[in-house]
Amino acid sequence: MRLIDEPYDEPPFSSWDGAQHGPEPRPDWVIADHNALDTDLGVLKTGKEADVHLVHRGLPGTDGCLMAAKRYRTTDHRMFHRDAGYQEGRRTRRSRDTRAMARRTEFGRDLLAGKWAGAEFAALGELWTLGAPVPYPVQLNGAELMLEFLGEPDGTAAPRLAQCRPEPDELADLFDQLVAAMRLLAHAGYAHGDLSPYNILVHRGRLTLIDLPQVVDLVINPQGPGFLQRDCANVLKWFTARGLDAPEADHLFGDLMAEAVAHW
Ligand SMILES: Nc1ncnc2c1ncn2[C@@H]1O[C@H](COP(=O)(O)OP(=O)(O)OP(=O)(O)O)[C@@H](O)[C@H]1O
Ligand SMILES: [Mg+2]
Repeated sequence: MRLIDEPYDEPPFSSWDGAQHGPEPRPDWVIADHNALDTDLGVLKTGKEADVHLVHRGLPGTDGCLMAAKRYRTTDHRMFHRDAGYQEGRRTRRSRDTRAMARRTEFGRDLLAGKWAGAEFAALGELWTLGAPVPYPVQLNGAELMLEFLGEPDGTAAPRLAQCRPEPDELADLFDQLVAAMRLLAHAGYAHGDLSPYNILVHRGRLTLIDLPQVVDLVINPQGPGFLQRDCANVLKWFTARGLDAPEADHLFGDLMAEAVAHW
């Protein structure tokens, strides 16, 4: 996608103040100024649970920066298919909120969207701080997350791994990057939980994991290992189909579980 010819149909807005901010030290490109204005440049992608928009943030007389704004849906019929197993072991403090969620009232839906956005923001902040290849989480505002935009300065988003047809050398390199990323998560006790060639972006030869609201705890969540096993199977299937002489899924899974347990 290129920068959209006609900006999205909303006036520029200011959103830094009042938002929860990402971890420090912030990357240099982040514009943390309450005078900066955000312009919505249009939809990058509509997903099952969220829409991702391209947003430009700038101060007058500067180039500004691009961000991906991920907005979890609040008020339509879509329910979060991920609510089932991922939530085990997580508690919600306020029982009134819990009841609202159970009733799936509008308030409950807003809460769920905000909860998923908050979960993704927290996971990205922690993983980014550990040095994992994830987009820098700039800010959180209700059900909207602003992320580092992965793509070209003209607004062309980085392709998903699923769309890439790498040459053998690059394929092997991407696989090494992926295993290193999964190992780093496992070392911290986590699995992505919804890993697939659709939730991995490739930008200028570097791979980035996205879509992390459901990060699972490998030790505390009894279903954690099951999610990791599925993550391993999903990505190995793709790499093997592209011709990589990849290890067995069970082998990778065992390695990563060992990594998680060793550092617990
Ligand atoms: N930081 C980013 N930079 C560039 N593009 C992004 C970024 N984050 C998300 N996207 C684009 O938006 C799409 C949807 O993002 P994401 O997977 O996080 O949301 P989702 O609602 O879970 O979508 P889906 O249902 O397709 O998995 C991604 O596949 C990618 O194309
Ligand atoms: Mg996704």
